[in-house]
Amino acid sequence: MNSISTYLVSIILLFNLVIYETIESSYTPVVMYHGMGDTAYGSISSVKTFLENKLTGIYVTSIQMGSNAEEDFFSSYLMNLNKQVETACSIIKADSNLKNGYNAIGFSQGGQILRAIAQRCPEPPMKNLISLGGQHQGVYGLPKCLGTVKICNYVREMLNFGAYVSYIQDNLVQAEYWHDPLQEQLYRNRSIFLADINNEKQPRNESYKTNLIKLKNLESSWFQFYQPGQAKIVYKLQDSPLYKEDWIGLKQLDQTKRLKLLGTIGDHLQFHVHGKWFNDEIVEPYLST
Ligand SMILES: *[C@@H]1O[C@H](CO)[C@@H](O)[C@H](O)[C@H]1NC(C)=O
Ligand SMILES: *[C@@H]1O[C@H](CO)[C@@H](O)[C@H](O)[C@H]1NC(C)=O
Repeated sequence: MNSISTYLVSIILLFNLVIYETIESSYTPVVMYHGMGDTAYGSISSVKTFLENKLTGIYVTSIQMGSNAEEDFFSSYLMNLNKQVETACSIIKADSNLKNGYNAIGFSQGGQILRAIAQRCPEPPMKNLISLGGQHQGVYGLPKCLGTVKICNYVREMLNFGAYVSYIQDNLVQAEYWHDPLQEQLYRNRSIFLADINNEKQPRNESYKTNLIKLKNLESSWFQFYQPGQAKIVYKLQDSPLYKEDWIGLKQLDQTKRLKLLGTIGDHLQFHVHGKWFNDEIVEPYLST
């Protein structure tokens, strides 16, 4: 009698455990990385809430730099990107929910940061990388500065003073992905972040390509850039040496149909979380499995 009830209890426990496990693991967890002037739980929280409501049981986390929203906000302008990648890598590794891998969504510059994480921090594995408005070949000009007037003016002043001056490179996020097509060689020599993750420096780091091609899909806009030496003609990603010589594996991802270049999100980051575009192009194909 006693042993039968114990047996039944264990079956019930086991049954619950199985159901619980199934629910818990049915969707791949998501890691988000915010853009300039935002915070981990600021405006992008609407995406987290939306995914949690739509995909029951999904684990969604958002990377925060520093211990509170204020530090996180300032880090989006003033925290060395290499340091951000390293810190985010530790956060991801320490999160047991992510141990079997995760999908990543980067907003604006968060897209470049997540790509660097895929290239430099391959464990746990990033599966799909969705980069919404990421500037993967850099910026030359700062048309949209989504912050307070004071900090945007400060960023502009520093960039005008000299994006490739070493102390500005070391401390100003936007300088670290500043790409001056009129000074291509200077950019390659001095850019401590973008030229490195795009493997434009010598010697090239083979592991960047090895790691990036492990992605199931790379979904992005904005991989094209100006032809060197001028700032009018933009060439297609497929015509750039980055692609043609395949320094980071984009060509290989493309040839295996895993590079998805979608440029239809309207103005920079203007899309509706509840809209058809986000659901049909992002949620259904990449996050619903
Ligand atoms: C390549 O990148 C990895 C990851 O960031 C780093 O550990 C390694 O030292 C780099 N290799 C070279 C040759 O720079
Ligand atoms: C870039 O670095 C190379 C090698 O150190 C040097 O020869 C070249 O003059 C540098 N160019 C610029 C524009 O800084």
